[in-house]
Amino acid sequence: MTADARTAPRGSGTAPWTRAALGANLLGSDGRLGITIFEEVTALAQEHGAINLGQGFPDEDGPQEILDAARSAIADGANQYAPGQGLPVLRSAIAAHQERFYGLTVDPQTEVIVSTGATESIAAAILAFAGPGDEVLTFEPFYDSYGAVIGLSGATHTTAPLRAPDFQPDAASLEAAFSERTRIVVVNNPHNPTGSVFTRAALELIVRLAERHGAIIVTDEVYEHLTFGVPHIPVATLSGAADRTLTISSAGKTFSVTGWKVGWLSGPAELVAQVRTVKTFLTYTSGTPFQGAVALGLGLPDAFFTSAAATLRRKRDLLGEGLRAAGFDVFEPEGTFFTTVDAAPLGVEDATDLARRLPSLIGVAAIPVAMFCHEEGAERTRSLLRFAFCKRFDVIEEGALRLGALRERV
Ligand SMILES: Cc1ncc(COP(=O)(O)O)c(C=O)c1O
Repeated sequence: MTADARTAPRGSGTAPWTRAALGANLLGSDGRLGITIFEEVTALAQEHGAINLGQGFPDEDGPQEILDAARSAIADGANQYAPGQGLPVLRSAIAAHQERFYGLTVDPQTEVIVSTGATESIAAAILAFAGPGDEVLTFEPFYDSYGAVIGLSGATHTTAPLRAPDFQPDAASLEAAFSERTRIVVVNNPHNPTGSVFTRAALELIVRLAERHGAIIVTDEVYEHLTFGVPHIPVATLSGAADRTLTISSAGKTFSVTGWKVGWLSGPAELVAQVRTVKTFLTYTSGTPFQGAVALGLGLPDAFFTSAAATLRRKRDLLGEGLRAAGFDVFEPEGTFFTTVDAAPLGVEDATDLARRLPSLIGVAAIPVAMFCHEEGAERTRSLLRFAFCKRFDVIEEGALRLGALRERV
């Protein structure tokens, strides 16, 4: 131990793996943890009373019956630890959901676990299978927790680009990104932040390459029910995929209950068992009273799922009109809560700078796509911004109105 280490106050530095996990853009110049652009934009939005289209959570509650079910569960005493793998009623509902929507048969006893949001399933799956010397491949831009957890695992994070305008995987770059060290390929479909929904051909290519390289597929499908006129194709339904694929989803997006943090993972029993071991030592078990309520949600009639997607699609269209009128180049999303735009037609090359100025400029907040990238990807996406449309119609209307003033102020 060095003298410095002995005398430094606790908490004054960060562990090497924390640094690796969080990356340079999260660290202050003194090596201490900095704040993310998310936090910065949120604070600026509050300061300027801006319409916050940065953060991807709905501003309306989900279906009344599931809210009531959670209240009743608390009143009825469902307040202690649930079994580590989740309440049987929810595991059965997840299995029934996979069968009903996708024709996938999973055993609720051995092939499903409930987690604390999709985030915990992602972390547990990566930590279970990847370590130093391995590579974990994600598409880029990537949901930020992937990069952090890959860093924590000690594995190397490799990426394959998704490029505008359609943000579909590109065969040549994807093939080149795989190597004999690729242990896991992380798929996120529908994709945050770009809003793309991967084509069947793209998904088949991912499966073929994973097979060829002996990689596990971890697929984050939290927006599975939020697609607009295109089908969601779970990776696990494709030929050759089922025995190497861990499928992750969450109640947060589908039922507008992001604060409940109920997610789940399903896949072959031998892989699920290893994820479960890691999950045991991350949280052991997840929020008991919410689990029965989510089981009820998963069993809601088809009309609930189709109307949630149809409402969101109208919101996408409303925001899209405002963004186009403001002068952005809009990449129409086929799924998720998000629209990605290019600010270059407005003469803006640096969308991160614009994201910092937008709240004071016009009273709207958005997130730069570069924050979901490593250095090279950040350069490629430098002029792109992400707007969330999972907000009330009147909020989106007001946001669109304010965006109208952008051209003359930017
Ligand atoms: C792609 C993706 N995965 C996972 C999550 C987190 O899900 P949860 O809140 O269930 O942990 C999000 C939330 O924004 C997301 O966009």
